[in-house]
Amino acid sequence: MDRGTTPAVLVTGGAGYIGAHTAKALHELGFVPVVYDNLISGFREAVRWGPFVHGDIRDRAALGEAMETHGVKAVIHFAGLIEVGRSVARPDLFWDVNVAGTTCLLTVMRERGVGRLVFSSSAAVYGQGGRGALETIPEHAEKAPASPYGDTKLAAEWMIQAQCRAYGLSAVALRYFNAAGADPSGLIGEAHEPETHLIPLAIAAALGDGKPLTVFGQDFDTPDGTCLRDYIHVSDLAAAHVAALEADLPVGAFEAVNVGTGQGRSVTEVVETVGRAAGRAVPHSLGARRAGDPPSLVADPRRALELLRWAPRHSSIDEIVADALRWERNPCYGSGLRGSTGRRKSQIVV
Ligand code: UFG
Repeated sequence: MDRGTTPAVLVTGGAGYIGAHTAKALHELGFVPVVYDNLISGFREAVRWGPFVHGDIRDRAALGEAMETHGVKAVIHFAGLIEVGRSVARPDLFWDVNVAGTTCLLTVMRERGVGRLVFSSSAAVYGQGGRGALETIPEHAEKAPASPYGDTKLAAEWMIQAQCRAYGLSAVALRYFNAAGADPSGLIGEAHEPETHLIPLAIAAALGDGKPLTVFGQDFDTPDGTCLRDYIHVSDLAAAHVAALEADLPVGAFEAVNVGTGQGRSVTEVVETVGRAAGRAVPHSLGARRAGDPPSLVADPRRALELLRWAPRHSSIDEIVADALRWERNPCYGSGLRGSTGRRKSQIVV
């Protein structure tokens, strides 16, 4: 996509964690990020780099109006539900928002002649499958989602691919591994409600703002018995979206690309890194496995380099944890804003 002539990009879910970081990256590279978000899990305070439109991903009229008003030429689509556990309890909701919502968006794009899409997919499409615990995952690996959440991401990919072929859209689905960290500015960061992710929970435990961490399972077939994940700095992830937007793709092309580092880190390693960075050990206990957790999810990241000319630059576990810690000590929004004392964290000496 040409930055000079087609700068307006609709960022659905742009008030959320990865969406907000991507809006910032777009702005810094000369695009106008038009954030479209229903603010159910996103934050208005996270929209700082372009216009904001309040709307739901299943609202065809509102999507069309946003594209029309702002002269949108491409879409980065983050809007969706992400909590794996909730997807087991409410698969209907996940199919409605993640799959029917994506169908609605594609219809409006087709009506408006918007021909380029970057889709927020997930390593959850892989599950464990028949893979060995220490094998990295190339894009063509077996797809065996372990949750309805993963099912909806895979189904949406299939639908996008079919519509690329049928209608000449070109699209990249980015399969994220474990997004973590925060923008070094301190203006935006991770704020999920409820928070279920390892790094923010480990930091909250270390800072005394949360419950002690429970390590889910120590008997996996991995080097130290805890799960291996591929943590990717959210700023690197944001850069991958811009690279996908600008990738030279033929009309009708669909590409699915892993976004990870190729390096697995165990839960124990992450807990130790957080303890070192925070200057105090993470209070934790050892618990049972969490349902649906594959022992290992580590990307084979070669396709991203080849197709997108993208490689991570800020994703050492130390840099990720340092940036996450800066944010968690002084978040600008989210329930983490208040510690157990009810004061803003910025007023609490830690
Ligand atoms: N973990 C703990 N204790 C916690 C939270 C997490 O031990 O309190 C462990 C998990 O068992 C896992 C690792 O830390 O081994 C990472 O867990 P996260 O919840 O931070 O991340 P997940 O790997 O579960 O989730 C990621 C993405 C999801 C995606 C999923 C696919 O965030 O969007 O991978 O498996 F669906």
